[in-house]
Amino acid sequence: MDSLKTNAVHYDDTVVRQFSIMAVVWGVVGMAVGVLVASQLAWPELNFGIPWLSFGRLRPLHTNAVIFAFGGCALFATSYYVVQRTCHTKLFLPKLAAFTFWGWQLVILLAAITLPLGYTSGKEYAELEWPIDILIAVVWVAYAVVFFGTIGIRKVKHIYVANWFFGAFIIAVALLHIVNSAAIPAGLLKSYSAYAGVQDAMVQWWYGHNAVGFFLTAGFLGMMYYFVPKQAGRPVYSYRLSIVHFWALIFTYMWAGPHHLHYTALPDWTQSVGMLFSLILLAPSWGGMINGVMTLSGAWHKLRDDPILRFLIVSLSFYGMSTFEGPMMAIKTVNALSHYTDWTVGHVHSGALGWVGLITMGSLYYLVPRLFGREKMHSVPAIELHFWMATIGIVLYIAAMWIAGVMQGLMWRAVNPDGTLTYTFVESVKATYPFYVIRVVGGLLYLAGMLVMAWNVWMTAISGRAVKVPVVAVNPAHA
Ligand code: HEM
Ligand code: HEM
Repeated sequence: MDSLKTNAVHYDDTVVRQFSIMAVVWGVVGMAVGVLVASQLAWPELNFGIPWLSFGRLRPLHTNAVIFAFGGCALFATSYYVVQRTCHTKLFLPKLAAFTFWGWQLVILLAAITLPLGYTSGKEYAELEWPIDILIAVVWVAYAVVFFGTIGIRKVKHIYVANWFFGAFIIAVALLHIVNSAAIPAGLLKSYSAYAGVQDAMVQWWYGHNAVGFFLTAGFLGMMYYFVPKQAGRPVYSYRLSIVHFWALIFTYMWAGPHHLHYTALPDWTQSVGMLFSLILLAPSWGGMINGVMTLSGAWHKLRDDPILRFLIVSLSFYGMSTFEGPMMAIKTVNALSHYTDWTVGHVHSGALGWVGLITMGSLYYLVPRLFGREKMHSVPAIELHFWMATIGIVLYIAAMWIAGVMQGLMWRAVNPDGTLTYTFVESVKATYPFYVIRVVGGLLYLAGMLVMAWNVWMTAISGRAVKVPVVAVNPAHA
């Protein structure tokens, strides 16, 4: 009973509430831009001849909005919530945590202004120009101070595994961002990379792949390790497995980047190292998926009537699927077919919509009622509806891209007996058209599901109130 006694100190949940709400807002915005760029690929006139509405400018706006605004806010929210609950303490330097919220929103706002205006460093997922990069670095260091400071003042000896994943994500992203963004300024909104030629490409894809590994994976595994056991009401299936796959995952991800540069000027042996490490990566990735899914053993029946648990578990199936597909695509001969095609885009979105999107939505559905003093979300049937809209949307999106991608790859490599190409490029574009339309339909469904969520979150928030939750004191036996 000791562990249930409370003292007067309260958790710092204001920043968690702010980040949670903004995750939903940016989710709607980023996905709406996704639907617009998807529509432009089917109907190019939709850029209306306006430069800042052109595909080339809106595409990075989409990727930045969904990864760093939607995903980023969700990661800030959940990591701040989880680290306090598992360390039995309030945040270290709450004012600095508030700074990370406003600083991160400023980064997003500056991205939303500069990208459509055409200011870009041209590096994928790191397009923002150097003054914004400096702001990102400052906010990120503040984030690290708050997070690790909170670990430092914890009231229990043990550091729960979710914090290991959040911690690895924070350290790795700092390292990746600072190294990859090194540039020589040539004006306020123009700079040149500090690296040149093939080294520049290698640094960029070391960054790019680890952005997947740490931003889109490790942080979300942190979410998984807290919210799946909580929602299922069961302990993590294997604590030992969680530690083994943690170290294996972070070690292996770092070396897999060259699979983005197969058949380029990168030395051949480097490409082979990238392929090998990508194949090895299947094991720790599946270790995480199995650990999450098996946490449900003995409680499978809960899936029948708990839509939040369904979000969490189906997200793990998509995680398993995309981390099987990724290693296959990293095999050079397979990549010879898939690279440059929409197969890559299908792979990206099975990870992004299926894994990142669904785990975030499930975690927020757990979090929001607790942050606003409600027992559950305003409407549980609306969660159910959202689940089906999102799932059907993903299936339409990724199935269309797989078919389109394999078709494009086969058409581009087909040759006649005399050695000439069987198809012109434009024939492959025409053949892709119906699949682009199907993607728009899938994307619209996914976005509509997100709007249902926004409504549900809003209703929950206005009918509840911002509660102050006392910090749970620790049983001295566990301290
Ligand atoms: C309504 C939902 C969404 C739609 C309709 C959508 C649509 C698109 C489109 C049309 C592209 C450009 C593809 C191309 O250049 O050929 C794209 C790229 C991308 N999207 Fe989405 N997207 C959605 C949600 C998301 C989410 C939630 C994430 C991440 C969490 C995401 C991450 C990405 C990434 C990383 C790329 C770049 C892919 C690459 O370079 O291969 N998207 N998206
Ligand atoms: C074992 C894990 C994984 C491996 C080995 C892997 C491997 C690959 C490979 C080989 C490509 C194609 C590179 C190319 O031809 O250009 C790729 C692209 C990509 N993957 Fe994965 N993948 C994995 C998991 C994931 C997950 C879970 C996500 C998302 C959450 C993801 C997001 C992406 C993105 C965004 C790209 C497109 C990069 C770009 O060209 O802009 N991957 N991945």
